[in-house]
Amino acid sequence: MKIILLGAPGAGKGTQAEYLRKTYGIPQISTGDMLRAAVKAGTPLGLQVKSVMESGGLVTDAIIIALIEERIKAPDCASGFLFDGFPRTIPQAQALVDAGIDIDVVLEIDVPDEEIVRRLSGRRVHLASGRIYHIENKPPQRANVDDVTGEPLIQRDDDKETTIRKRLSVYHEQTKPLADFYRRASAQKKSLRFLTMSGVGDITSIRDTLKQLLAS
Ligand code: AP5
Ligand code: MG
Repeated sequence: MKIILLGAPGAGKGTQAEYLRKTYGIPQISTGDMLRAAVKAGTPLGLQVKSVMESGGLVTDAIIIALIEERIKAPDCASGFLFDGFPRTIPQAQALVDAGIDIDVVLEIDVPDEEIVRRLSGRRVHLASGRIYHIENKPPQRANVDDVTGEPLIQRDDDKETTIRKRLSVYHEQTKPLADFYRRASAQKKSLRFLTMSGVGDITSIRDTLKQLLAS
């Protein structure tokens, strides 16, 4: 199974990816998590992308496409994968087509901008695992501490209101057009399903809707 999760920053892609990953036994490939790991480790890639990520802009297509090409060669991708935060531009989507990678499902989670600002301001993450919390909607058992490892949670550098608004404008300009791209592609190709759903509601009910949609 090859799935793409589309949606604005804060739409809940990472949160719902956990369910999809377990259900289909496929790895979650989050380009954002991969880039943050590179920044934290201070690798040449990390040094190259740090400032653009902090500002809420997009990393270049060439870097992202090379990262994905390498990642999907790994043995854990043999029976599929879940893309979370990729593709984010038309050239990135086109690169998948050119590489002959057949996607089964594109699922768009739609959330209004104001709800996103509220969500992202309260998000806390465990950097090493990518586990996601929210101070009100999904609090950890102990404040600011990861439930599994007991390590401290952090607030992402790009989760400040001005940066969130910049990310949203980049999303509307460069990523939202992918919904039409995949809607058209699925009309031409029977094996590709394009699904879209509202991401407003509590985390469990969104998961249930997503489950029903995928089973339909
Ligand atoms: P990335 O890490 O992909 O960030 P993003 O797309 O901006 O998305 P987020 O991770 O912020 O949101 P999410 O949808 O995963 O929401 P989450 O589940 O955490 O990318 C970061 C940066 O890397 C980019 O800005 C760019 O610079 C670069 N980059 C990455 N990929 C790239 C690419 N392909 N091309 C170019 N550059 C790239 O949920 C958010 C919060 O809300 C959490 O606190 C959660 O607990 C809470 N929440 C979730 N669901 C609900 C709900 N239903 N109700 C209430 N609260 C909820
Ligand atoms: Mg995410």
